Amino acid sequence: MKKLSHLNLDAPFFQAPLSGYTDQPMRILARQFGAPLTFSGLMLDKSVLAPGVLEKPHYAVIDQEHPVGAQLLGNDPDIMAQAARRLCDYGYDLVDLNFACPAPKVTQKQRGGFLLTQPDTALKITQQVRQAISCPLLLKLRIGYDRSSQSQENFWYICEQALAVGIDGLVIHGRTVQGRYRDRADWNIIAQVKKRFPHAFITGSGDIFTAEDVADKLAHYDIDAVLIARGAIGNPWIFPEARALTSHLPKPPPPSLTEQGQTMLHHLDMVLRLYPTRKAVPLFRKFCVHYCKRHPRRKKTQSALISAPDPDALRLTIRNCYGL
Ligand SMILES: Cc1cc2nc3c(=O)[nH]c(=O)nc-3n(C[C@H](O)[C@H](O)[C@H](O)COP(=O)(O)O)c2cc1C
Repeated sequence: MKKLSHLNLDAPFFQAPLSGYTDQPMRILARQFGAPLTFSGLMLDKSVLAPGVLEKPHYAVIDQEHPVGAQLLGNDPDIMAQAARRLCDYGYDLVDLNFACPAPKVTQKQRGGFLLTQPDTALKITQQVRQAISCPLLLKLRIGYDRSSQSQENFWYICEQALAVGIDGLVIHGRTVQGRYRDRADWNIIAQVKKRFPHAFITGSGDIFTAEDVADKLAHYDIDAVLIARGAIGNPWIFPEARALTSHLPKPPPPSLTEQGQTMLHHLDMVLRLYPTRKAVPLFRKFCVHYCKRHPRRKKTQSALISAPDPDALRLTIRNCYGL
């Protein structure tokens, strides 16, 4: 059992924040399949403070999800602190500050990964958010803005000073902001962070596509937990598989086609309950592309699923393709 502040987490891997994916249905599915903690996608501080926004499908949290972390994006320490307080009051169990996002539309507005070039602002935000909330606080950061020595200096300075103001842990994505997703994640730097701050809760992220990757990173890098990001899209089975391997138990057999189809129908139902049909169907198509990866006739199944125009057609196609 791992303890992250007062949260008891019974497995050392979490559902990562994934903007555009980790809405309530994906988080519930991850919890039902065995993720001990999930995160929302990034939420802009100003949006969180707008009236009624937290009740919208993108942000809503329900009882069966806990514990769930809210990921917060912004660059103004006062607004970030108010938004973090609002998220905790609303029911999120943890706040995670995003100093990682490499998307140009985010960095151009001096948010996300850009803040790795502004260590004083990053620390001011961290400090003010820490003072504003009592629920656990994490920072998610990449290993630098780029590979320059100034970037490395900023990275270590932010890690050290943020821990000194009392954050509860660091989530390190082992790529630079400029590296986006091109390079392989550098797990040696993630391990160095744990070595340098052995009492801090360190979670690593990058290139986790299978349960074997989860077990391998935990075994070799001496960190506290691993984020499962792209590896969990349309693949909730990665959670029971990772539970087995990290407990030194045999990996469960792959899900049968019937089980895959039933899970897709369950996921689709949750999506349809939360969103209007015109949003639900295109959203679920994104997941279909990933669910299909386990299907023996992947291409044919994918094209049938993504051309289904409405919920009834989608359900029927899932039943036909998965033998239900
Ligand atoms: C589509 C997509 C959306 C993402 N959204 C977020 C986000 O909202 N917040 C965040 O901190 N990281 C986000 N990430 C980064 C992931 O959480 C994770 O750190 C990254 O994908 C590295 O892990 P992987 O190589 O195992 O996928 C996103 C990644 C992807 C691919």
